[in-house]
Amino acid sequence: MTELLSSRMKSWPWQTIIEPFRIKTVEPLGFTSAAEREEVLKRANYNVFNIPAEKVLIDLLTDSGTSAMSAEQWAAIMRGDESYAGAKSFFVLEKKIRELTGYREVIPVHQGRAAERILFSFLGGEGHVVLANAHFDTTRANVEASGAVAVDLPVAGAWNFSQPEPFKGNVDVPALEKAIYEHGAQKISMFIMTVTNNTIGGQPVSMRNLRDAGEVCRRHKIPVILDCARFAENAYLIKRRERGYATRPVAEIAREMFSYADGCMMSAKKDAFVNIGGFLALNNPEWARRAREILILGEGFTTYGGLAGRDLEAMARGLEEVLDEEYLQYRIRSVEYLGEGLRRHGIAIVEPPGGHAIYIDAKRFLPHIPPREYPAQALVCELYRNAGIRAVEVGSLMFGRRNNEEFLPARMELVRLAIPRRVYTQSHIDFVIEILGEIARRKDSLSGLRLLEGAQRLAHFTARLEPVY
Ligand code: F0G
Repeated sequence: MTELLSSRMKSWPWQTIIEPFRIKTVEPLGFTSAAEREEVLKRANYNVFNIPAEKVLIDLLTDSGTSAMSAEQWAAIMRGDESYAGAKSFFVLEKKIRELTGYREVIPVHQGRAAERILFSFLGGEGHVVLANAHFDTTRANVEASGAVAVDLPVAGAWNFSQPEPFKGNVDVPALEKAIYEHGAQKISMFIMTVTNNTIGGQPVSMRNLRDAGEVCRRHKIPVILDCARFAENAYLIKRRERGYATRPVAEIAREMFSYADGCMMSAKKDAFVNIGGFLALNNPEWARRAREILILGEGFTTYGGLAGRDLEAMARGLEEVLDEEYLQYRIRSVEYLGEGLRRHGIAIVEPPGGHAIYIDAKRFLPHIPPREYPAQALVCELYRNAGIRAVEVGSLMFGRRNNEEFLPARMELVRLAIPRRVYTQSHIDFVIEILGEIARRKDSLSGLRLLEGAQRLAHFTARLEPVY
């Protein structure tokens, strides 16, 4: 992307942006034959969550918990203090999160959705509404499981996938004011800003939007919570795309982002490079007290929250490493590189590339497959069938509604190619581009899928499907 190339960091004046690490430990990839993959797919009921990982060649299912940890993180793991209460490792993490976010109360949890469940158990519930730029699937499910209603308010431009805009993760501020007016401020338990916006293309939220939305919420005394799984990628995209931030350190930008909210919940499995972990960080001591009560009930004591001491150490170190701007430059560039390759093959993607993944617009790529035959899932299956590449559907399988005979499609049919952090090299990505190019040449021959069984919530994890011929 010319924008990024023209704004390369001064410390790196060259054209090629390289992986800012070398490899110390390696794992073999899962090579399989075409016949084997066909059999695996059938046995998995055309749901890639059911495929054994050793049968996957390149795994782009998620960037969550799949990062390569650094030598320093592994070293920190050896320092893990496994005391039940008051472990040294907790205080290392607490200090790091306080420095990063400015929030006083730090509550570790085993992963992001635990933070969601805890927070909504006392701030959600029957009769309440949770507003967001867009809820991630588990966030929406946890809001709804508490009895509350989840409402997404993305900017209108977010739905125009082919039109690049710098901050398509933004909330629609006038729509936010309207929703507050319609539901009544006292019914709205919180406003969630997901940074970056994973559901609609991994798109960033601008600082201006964070400030404006924060001001509206403050006026109506509505708490603002950041769902900050990918805060550093968002902060770096602010640095690159928003006027006034080009020379500011990313750590400072992140701190400003947190300053417009009352707290955050983080799945540390993303930007903190850990395989498991998360936290809640809050300003309100009363909320923190209630959260800790529920934490003890289901996760563990307040200084470990369902994690080992070593996990807390790895998380603290990861939160520091992710703010390294050479890393972030490479990270954002490597996602763009995949996007550029797909564009060259005429494949419609969500434009512009966001922070952690490329999203293929399957509605435009496979217009002959109707939403009720899950076009994005059809492409996910074809990618696996063809070359053992695993992606994930973000469409009607994940977000569609099925009430007996009635089928309500999702608004989008996307295939997300999520890039694990520090795991794959450029040749792996070149291979993915080649395979998608090959599929693009014969895309009209692809057919859809029929849903045989799907749960009420988060159906995509357990659904069973079969091909429609
Ligand atoms: N919030 C966001 C924005 C997420 O992307 C995720 C997880 C969560 C919350 C929940 O965190 O998995 O640690 O419980 N996203 C993963 C993904 C699963 O593939 O995008 P978790």
